[in-house]
Amino acid sequence: MSESPEGSASVGELVLSLRGISKNFGAVSALTDIDFDVHAGEVVALVGDNGAGKSTLVKILAGVHQPSSGTINFRGRPVTLPDPRAALTLGIATVFQDLALCENLDVVANIFLGNELSPLRLDEVAMEMRAWTLLNELSARIPSVREAVAS
Ligand SMILES: Nc1ncnc2c1ncn2[C@@H]1O[C@H](COP(=O)(O)OP(=O)(O)OP(=O)(O)O)[C@@H](O)[C@H]1O
Ligand SMILES: [Mg+2]
Repeated sequence: MSESPEGSASVGELVLSLRGISKNFGAVSALTDIDFDVHAGEVVALVGDNGAGKSTLVKILAGVHQPSSGTINFRGRPVTLPDPRAALTLGIATVFQDLALCENLDVVANIFLGNELSPLRLDEVAMEMRAWTLLNELSARIPSVREAVAS
């Protein structure tokens, strides 16, 4: 979870709180009455069997699916996440395990996809510098951030 536009939460503050979240896909109950809390400065793991509903819960948090029932509170206020943009605006970003890269785009474009630095027009230089900084922080050895990721 990154910083929200309202500034960072203090460590220990309840940032995200789900209560009674259920999700039905037709006759399939993917989630039933889920409570889930995330505090600032905390790393929370969601563990479960195949088909337990992990991805469904994350997609609800990412604004991909709407819950069938239940409430989501973000920093003490009830919120709805009608689309991924709404989740991103709160600072909820999702890193998918696969199929999440646009192979025809370069590393910089993939990193900033949907979140491009564009005060007036695309700031390619700033995005490339930020991409290098991020990759260096991760000790990632990528020869060029301007290669299509397919290669
Ligand atoms: N779009 C959908 N339409 C219908 N059923 C769905 C849909 N998405 C998920 N389901 C069902 O909801 C249940 C939970 O699936 P989900 O993918 O959330 O589980 P998971 O914990 O992520 O599993 P895995 O460990 O295999 O990734 C499963 O029974 C799944 O078949
Ligand atoms: Mg899954």
